[in-house]
Amino acid sequence: MKSTYFPSQPQAWFHHYRTMEVQYILEILHNLEAAIWAVLIFIAFVLISQAHYKAQLAKLPTFDIDEGNEKWRRTYLKSARRLYQEGYKKVSVCLGLSVENALEDEIPQCEDWAPVFIYQKLVNTVAKVSGRIFLGAELSPNKDYLDTAINYTIELGNAVQAVKKMKPWLRPFLAWKLPEVQQLNKREEMAIRFLEPIIQARREASKDPDYQKPDDMLQWFLNRSEDYKVHSTRRIVKMQLLVIFAGIHNTTVTATNVLYNLAVSPEYMQPLREEICKAISDNDGTLTLRALQQMEKLDSFMKETIRFYPPELTSFSRQAVQGIKLSSGQYIPPGTSIETPLQAIYQDDSNYPDSDTFDGFRFYKIRQGGGATVHARNQFVTSNEQNLVFGYGKHACPGSFLAAAEIKMIVSKILLTYDFKNADNWTERYPNYEVGRLEDDGTRQ
Ligand code: HEM
Repeated sequence: MKSTYFPSQPQAWFHHYRTMEVQYILEILHNLEAAIWAVLIFIAFVLISQAHYKAQLAKLPTFDIDEGNEKWRRTYLKSARRLYQEGYKKVSVCLGLSVENALEDEIPQCEDWAPVFIYQKLVNTVAKVSGRIFLGAELSPNKDYLDTAINYTIELGNAVQAVKKMKPWLRPFLAWKLPEVQQLNKREEMAIRFLEPIIQARREASKDPDYQKPDDMLQWFLNRSEDYKVHSTRRIVKMQLLVIFAGIHNTTVTATNVLYNLAVSPEYMQPLREEICKAISDNDGTLTLRALQQMEKLDSFMKETIRFYPPELTSFSRQAVQGIKLSSGQYIPPGTSIETPLQAIYQDDSNYPDSDTFDGFRFYKIRQGGGATVHARNQFVTSNEQNLVFGYGKHACPGSFLAAAEIKMIVSKILLTYDFKNADNWTERYPNYEVGRLEDDGTRQ
């Protein structure tokens, strides 16, 4: 063990002690100075990075939809619901023909079996058909619109994934440099360049009292821009992009999954074809709204597809802005993010007896025996505590009726016009299509 060293002379020891004391004090002061500098640098770093962060955030693509206050938000919700209801009423009038034309372009008649990458064909179809509602007949075939409708959701997903891979503290400085984020910005600029002159022209034209306003979603947004207090063109364009983001790929993926199921359960095809033919002939040979409502077997098949093969494990998410005590006694602290267990609820026997069995006519059979409430609870568009695929509550998907109509029209047109099966007589059902895998890997034709 080493002993502590003391100088032999007391004076020297004292002197040494004093020297040590001064040294200690100097050292402490030096450390303190270093600490103060460190704190100052740290504060400056945090402040600057936060300011920079905000500046960067302002530049990053957002929907701006959350910017407003609660009053603005309520106006949005009230208005959005009216918007979709109006749109839905008009759906069958113009969409039937759009679906027919789009499918003829995408999947032309052929003499023998021909492989098609069905998701790609359907996303093109849904983009064209939805474009008829979003922008009207004249603009919906526009190349820039179609390109945006097909790719925006994928590019947004790519950008989110790329930013997530970056260390959080680097994101404020470097996220904007990521090729995926730059591509997304480019896409938004392209949408703005495309829509800005159209919006300006429509605003100009509406000064004329005899102007016949177009009847599409862009115009409905413009008509309500006063209610929304949204005057900037960029913001209206971003609202269009939001609808594209929310609508196109969800609808396409669901239609694709319905066809995946039909391809491996051909026994459903004949009864569905009979139902579709009857519904159309009962409605003067047209795919009217009433005809779509009469397709209860098809509705059931679509709903069972979603129940058995839900698009996600969980459905919508929420963040608790204040603490909530549940009836079970469980406490959810403020700031907690929660998601709803979509798949678990769909696969619970107490909600859906024999839930492990795919029964395409499950909901059709339930509806046969029941009154109005039973019908209402067992439709494709139903949103309640057992059916969460479209969300629940005041933010439940306002586009579900449009999606249902588009999917029914597409699937019924395909059933009436084509025979189809999996490529190479593959008998297993393809796994659910996931957006982001747009490339044709040749395995799902
Ligand atoms: C099968 C197709 C679709 C599925 C599965 C789907 C699903 C959803 C879900 C889960 C939500 C969140 C609901 C919540 O937070 O409670 C939502 C919201 C939304 N959906 Fe859909 N959707 C589909 C089609 C569409 C279509 C075709 C449109 C528009 C044309 C659309 C527009 C919207 C909008 C604007 C919201 C936000 C509503 C709000 O926050 O108030 N969706 N959708």
